[in-house]
Amino acid sequence: MKPKEISIIVALSDNRAIGRGNKMPWHIAEDMKFFKKTTMGGTVIMGRKTWESLGCKALPHRQNIVVSRSLQLEPVSDDLQVTVARTLEEAVEAATADSIFVIGGGEIYRQAISLATRIYMTKVHTYISDADTFFPELDSDLWMEVLWSEIQRDAESGLEFEFVLLKKLSD
Ligand SMILES: NC(=O)c1ccc[n+]([C@@H]2O[C@H](COP(=O)([O-])OP(=O)(O)OC[C@H]3O[C@@H](n4cnc5c(N)ncnc54)[C@H](OP(=O)(O)O)[C@@H]3O)[C@@H](O)[C@H]2O)c1
Repeated sequence: MKPKEISIIVALSDNRAIGRGNKMPWHIAEDMKFFKKTTMGGTVIMGRKTWESLGCKALPHRQNIVVSRSLQLEPVSDDLQVTVARTLEEAVEAATADSIFVIGGGEIYRQAISLATRIYMTKVHTYISDADTFFPELDSDLWMEVLWSEIQRDAESGLEFEFVLLKKLSD
């Protein structure tokens, strides 16, 4: 069987912040659009806190897997496609789509880096001084930036951002 390809998708600031008070520190419509387009039809794997930050609502048209040692999901209708896995490895096993996206948050990213082969990274060019959740530093011997977008500016917030794709170098 072909091994499943695991990608991380994340938006981080210049000081690697990804969250504050269990929310994203910004709202960038173009980044939300990119996230939706990239993950559509795939399996999304997230930590329990990220699930709660989404209002405990499944992302439509994607298989949603929440990683938690404690969460008991209420029975939900089949079309919502939400399940709970007790470990990240169990979540990967349970994924049915060809493309698997680890969508956060910090705790889950830290564990997923060794399993992932690509990272869709939105670099948001700002400094979030009161962030409480961060994306880990990457080993530059292992990860290489292979694609970059132009730097864009969010009209509402004025924030500048760019999309970067990183690939893990194989041995
Ligand atoms: N900027 C971005 O791209 C982005 C993306 C996603 C999230 N975020 C932000 O990230 C923050 C949330 O991140 P977080 O680090 O606090 O939490 P998280 O990673 O979303 O969830 C942590 C929870 O996941 C479960 N978990 C973690 N490792 C596990 C394992 N090995 N086995 C079983 N369960 C495991 C535990 O749930 P239990 O306690 O239930 O066992 C743990 O409390 C929020 O601020 C959110 O907005 C940002």
